[in-house]
Amino acid sequence: MAFSEEFIEELRQRCDIVDVVSSYVALTKRSGANLFGLCPFHGEKTPSFAVNGEKQIYHCFGCGKGGSVIGFIMEIENLDYPDAVRFLARRAGMEVPEDAPDPRRNRRERMLALNREAARYFHAQLMGPAGGPGQAYVQKRGISKKTVIRFGLGLAPDSWQNLTDAMTAKGFTRQELVDAGLCRVGKSGGLYDYFRNRLMFPVIDVRGSVIGFSGRILGDGEPKYLNSPDTLVYSKSRSLFALNLAKKSKSGYILLAEGNIDVVSLHQAGFDSAVASLGTSLTADQARLISNYTQKVVIAYDADAAGQKAAQRAIGILQPLDLKIHVVKIPGAKDPDEFVQANGPDKFRQLIERSGNQMEYRLEETAAQFDLTADDGRLNYLRAAARLIASLPGSVEREIYGMRAAEKANVSKDAFLLEVEKVRRQNAAAARKKREREAAAPLRAAQPAERSLRYTDVPSAVAEEGVLNLLCRFPEQFRDLPLTKEDFTSPALGGLYEAVAARARQGEHVTMASLEQQFSPEETALLAGILQRDEITAAAADKAMADYINKIRAQRDKTTAGDDLRGYAEKLKQTKGYGS
Ligand code: GTP
Ligand code: MN
Repeated sequence: MAFSEEFIEELRQRCDIVDVVSSYVALTKRSGANLFGLCPFHGEKTPSFAVNGEKQIYHCFGCGKGGSVIGFIMEIENLDYPDAVRFLARRAGMEVPEDAPDPRRNRRERMLALNREAARYFHAQLMGPAGGPGQAYVQKRGISKKTVIRFGLGLAPDSWQNLTDAMTAKGFTRQELVDAGLCRVGKSGGLYDYFRNRLMFPVIDVRGSVIGFSGRILGDGEPKYLNSPDTLVYSKSRSLFALNLAKKSKSGYILLAEGNIDVVSLHQAGFDSAVASLGTSLTADQARLISNYTQKVVIAYDADAAGQKAAQRAIGILQPLDLKIHVVKIPGAKDPDEFVQANGPDKFRQLIERSGNQMEYRLEETAAQFDLTADDGRLNYLRAAARLIASLPGSVEREIYGMRAAEKANVSKDAFLLEVEKVRRQNAAAARKKREREAAAPLRAAQPAERSLRYTDVPSAVAEEGVLNLLCRFPEQFRDLPLTKEDFTSPALGGLYEAVAARARQGEHVTMASLEQQFSPEETALLAGILQRDEITAAAADKAMADYINKIRAQRDKTTAGDDLRGYAEKLKQTKGYGS
């Protein structure tokens, strides 16, 4: 359904973009009307994500994402436009005018209801008379009844149709069962249960909805885990197992483990902030999700080489989010579960307390790659270590870690710190160059971030962007522009122009929030980037607009459109016989 412009405008006014974005992103720097923070949509170390309170838009100079407060919620909460509007309306305490039922929304709600029923069913199986095999396995893994209940663990019975029958009896359709990833269609066309003879872990999101399942085989066998496929309500790469519980923890950190069993076992031992990613290695979306709830992450991955490699990867993904990262090494056990079961919570707590921060961990891992008894091994270690240490923002930290690295390679601290300073100067020079390049770019960095929107005629497109910029900012001044959509060489800019010009002619103000209803996120991001610019003042706008229009016409005459016109004229002459 479409929302009225009045409703969207009121919603936008009640949901200040600075307020809303601040609950996801720390906006630490100010420059004019822009507040800057680290972009939540791509990894970065220096802020290029701008929120403009005057224009009520956001725009990332790094990745090109941009839009209004509604667009921001669409992107960060992974919602479509109507759901983002509902999300914000709930936040602002506003009633949403729903004149027609939205089938997509209804499907989501039905799927969540089905998942909840399925979780209840699995749990009842585990707790009931048929729960024997599941109970035996749970006991073998040292999982208590209390923990089973806290996690809502369940048992998928060893049969092909139990869940299918139970859910059908509750009124769910075949299609709904298949769409939710709970059932599959067999060769004969009948349905069968996807999860069979498995210990079931419901995946519950931070709002408390069951969004999917993870099922572990009872004992040995392949595959060890089956996970729900991605569905309308479940995206593995954007979910974390047990975050619903961990988000309430008072521990001050999130404990990131690999396995579901590790998480359950850690919670049982009192580590109530443990989470795990679900059948994927840590993704940027999951890292961002974590950073919504904590400033510090303690990585407790498996002790084997694969686990340590995964930890290195996870550090790389978490680091751009400015989190404190510690890494636990688990001695004498294969994973956190085995360690707490064997040694008890106190010993694990000590491991966490003694866990090196990521710099220590990385230095150690780096040292292990080189032969420190040989000269060139030591030299190469020092170069690699200097690069790591140069990335530390504080001079005291650089001094401390520099000292350790120097000791390790048996060189003087001063010599080592000189090397670090050299790397820092190189990094600073590279960053300065990048900034200068960005500042010197014409209206923007020439091409849109989104490939499918690439300009075929850059000089004209730059002028077209200028037209849009001035029209959006000064709609009264340019109510009657002589341009049409066809004058634009970029179809995206032409489409945006048409919508903005129509509003300007009716004396309406253009807001990003209402345009987002009509345009794709890529197109609105393009417009947000264009709106960011405000070098041209109202006084200079008339002259600038005239220049833009001339440029667009000149380009057109120079290229195809002009050729076509000339060719058309030529053709007319010949066919009509108007010889010269
Ligand atoms: P155990 O300690 O061996 O009982 O298992 P665990 O729960 O600690 O899991 P493990 O460390 O073996 O694996 C870590 C995570 O990787 C699991 O929680 C799953 O999400 C995922 N995983 C493991 N095995 C499989 C598999 O066979 N298929 C898929 N899709 N994911 C798996
Ligand atoms: Mn494990």
